[in-house]
Amino acid sequence: MSVQVIHITGARPNFPKAAPVIRALDGCHVRQQLVHTGQHYDERMSEVFFRQLGLPEPELNLAVGSGSHAFQTGEIMNRLERLFQTARPGLVVVYGDVNSTVAAALVAAKLGIPIAHVEAGLRSFNRSMPEEVNRLVTDRLSDLLFATSPDALVNLGNEGINADRVFFTGNPMIDTLMANLHRFDVAAARAQLSLPERYVVATLHRPSNVDNPGDAAELVKALHAVADQTHIVLPLHPRGRNSLADAGLFLHPNLRVADPLGYVEFLSLVRGAKAVLTDSGGVQEETTMLGIPCLTLRDETERPVTVTQGTNRLVTRENLAEEVRGVLAAGHRAAGWPTPPLWDGRAGARIAEVIERFVGTH
Ligand code: UD1
Ligand code: UDP
Repeated sequence: MSVQVIHITGARPNFPKAAPVIRALDGCHVRQQLVHTGQHYDERMSEVFFRQLGLPEPELNLAVGSGSHAFQTGEIMNRLERLFQTARPGLVVVYGDVNSTVAAALVAAKLGIPIAHVEAGLRSFNRSMPEEVNRLVTDRLSDLLFATSPDALVNLGNEGINADRVFFTGNPMIDTLMANLHRFDVAAARAQLSLPERYVVATLHRPSNVDNPGDAAELVKALHAVADQTHIVLPLHPRGRNSLADAGLFLHPNLRVADPLGYVEFLSLVRGAKAVLTDSGGVQEETTMLGIPCLTLRDETERPVTVTQGTNRLVTRENLAEEVRGVLAAGHRAAGWPTPPLWDGRAGARIAEVIERFVGTH
């Protein structure tokens, strides 16, 4: 009988990363099970991605919901332990850097179950980000580490992780982008939100931008200064809903706040935008691939390749409006730019090949 591989997903960025790996493994000699931890649970943060990206229905939803880091991570661990003890999978595959990722890695490691980490080796070198802690722990525990960019290989080498475990397989988030390019409809997305031809898209949810009322107020001020120049549409992550509203987010006529969008609607909007203002990890990569100028409201990025080989620039709340002015004056980047290595739509297939070989020999 073939070996069982369990994929752990739970939060929005996991879904576009897992979809191409699961699809590629469908043609291999493994049995797959998809588990949803329930870290994200709103229809627009979860189910819409399953529908739009053709992900299979999760066989199990742990329904863990929201809470503090310790609560969420602990609950996921508690519920996964029972599952792994019964199922005894040959491999657990985890994605990205969210709490569901590290929780699953900890449980598997303690039960002696091998772990594969998709998107290994990214580092912001800022441990005040919860994601950085999750990345460090997950990589340390993983048996197969799938890297999306050359800088990740360097980081893992510097941490003394054995190169035999590390595979440079490319970026599955980009597989999903490329597979869905034909579905992105700028005109429909604009019509749905009544946007003019010239607009920018914003997406902001990092604790460093939205949690503290002082940061939220600075962010709203910066966004309003951009809205003085151009229309902005902001599909708002639930994390910042209250703090940004309290800071007066809704008070500018050129700033359109929307609910979180489905994958196809969101990337359609991004594709037609003059610029994107973000603190999202995935969006830095998607804009690089689409050639859309990206201004990232963070002090550092764990995705430096989007700056050196992409359209991304780090900005502050103070200089955001000025930076947008510059981007709007310069216009779009021309087509035909070089993109990061192995961001070619085949990462899922490469990852599946390594996984099939691994489970066949362990
Ligand atoms: C999580 C990840 C972050 C990732 C982001 C992607 C961690 C530590 N953080 O952050 O790395 O960039 O997802 O979107 O794992 N909420 C809802 N509905 C939902 C989900 C959340 O209303 O479906 C609200 C709840 O009030 C919750 C808050 O959002 O407390 C934060 O959710 P949580 O999953 O803890 O962290 P994110 O900020 O979403
Ligand atoms: N996304 C989406 N709708 C939105 C915002 C984001 O479909 O309204 C997609 C987008 O493809 C992005 C992915 O969700 O790359 C994950 O984004 P998020 O910013 O939530 O997580 P991060 O990458 O910062 O961890």
